[in-house]
Amino acid sequence: MPKRITAPKIGVFDSGIGGLSVLREVHRLLPDHPTVFVADQIHLPYGPRPVAEIRQYVQAVTHFLIGQGCAVIVLACNTASAAALYFLRDQFPGLPIVGMEPAVKPAAERSRSGVIGVLSTQATADGELYRRVRERHAARTQVITVVAPELVRIAEEQSQQTPASQSIIADYLRPFIQAKADEIVLACTHFPFIAGAIQDQLGPDVHLIDPAPAVARQVARVWPADLHPSPEPARCFTTASPERLRAMLHRLLGIIAPVHALSWSADETTLITPPSP
Ligand code: DGL
Repeated sequence: MPKRITAPKIGVFDSGIGGLSVLREVHRLLPDHPTVFVADQIHLPYGPRPVAEIRQYVQAVTHFLIGQGCAVIVLACNTASAAALYFLRDQFPGLPIVGMEPAVKPAAERSRSGVIGVLSTQATADGELYRRVRERHAARTQVITVVAPELVRIAEEQSQQTPASQSIIADYLRPFIQAKADEIVLACTHFPFIAGAIQDQLGPDVHLIDPAPAVARQVARVWPADLHPSPEPARCFTTASPERLRAMLHRLLGIIAPVHALSWSADETTLITPPSP
C-alpha cells in the first residue's frame, strides 16, 4: 500500500454489475467516502473459470485500484472472494481487503425449518471459504446448494421478467421448494438485482439474504482511522462497454456518472486506461 494516500477512496470490484449491489450499500452507509468501481465485464462470468485465472485478474485489478488511491479494497464478488481473498491478503499485506462469504450464519440462525438454500456460482460452491462457513455455522442445518450460472447472465441483462428467464429461475429454485428451505442466501452479488423475481416464485414465507449491508458495515470498520475522506463523485471503470455500464448504473442505482474504459495488457496481467480521444 502506498505510504501516503491523498484523497483516499474505497475500491469496489466485481466481474460485472453484481458489485453495484455492494457499492449501493457502501454509498448508503458511507456517503462521504469516495469510491472507485471496476467491473471486469470482458471476462464475465468468473464462476466457471479456474482459480489461477481469477487470481490473476483480481491481483491486477487490485494494483489498479491502489493506483487510483484506494485505501480499502472490496472484493464485491463471491466468486473472486472464493478464489482469491486469502491469496490477495498475502500479496498485499497491510491493505484492508473486504471479501464476500456466503451468508450461511444468519440463514442458519433465522431458519425455522432447519433447511436453508444457497444460490451461487460454481467457483463459490467449490471454494474453501464456503466449506468453512458451512462447517462453522451450519453443523445442524441442512444446506441445499444450487449452482446457478444462468442467473448471472439474467441479472446482467436484467431479463428476469421474460418467460424464458422465469422458467430458468423456476428450475433453479425447485430444489429449495421441495426441501422446504425457508432462508435463501444470495451468494452471488448479481442476485440482489433479480431478487424480486426470485421472491415472486418462492412466495412471501421464504426470506432472502443479501449480505451487502453487512459488507458495507465491515468496510466502515476497516477504514483506517487516520484517513479522512473528502467526498467526490464515484469513478467507474469497465473492461467492456462503458455505455452499457453507464446505463446500468443509472437503472440500478439511480447514479448518473461517467464510466471509463479499461483494457487488459496482451498477457492479461495489467489493466490499462486508454488515452482519452
Ligand atoms: N458477482 C459475481 C459473484 O458474486 C458474479 C459471478 C460471475 O462472474 O460468474 O459471484
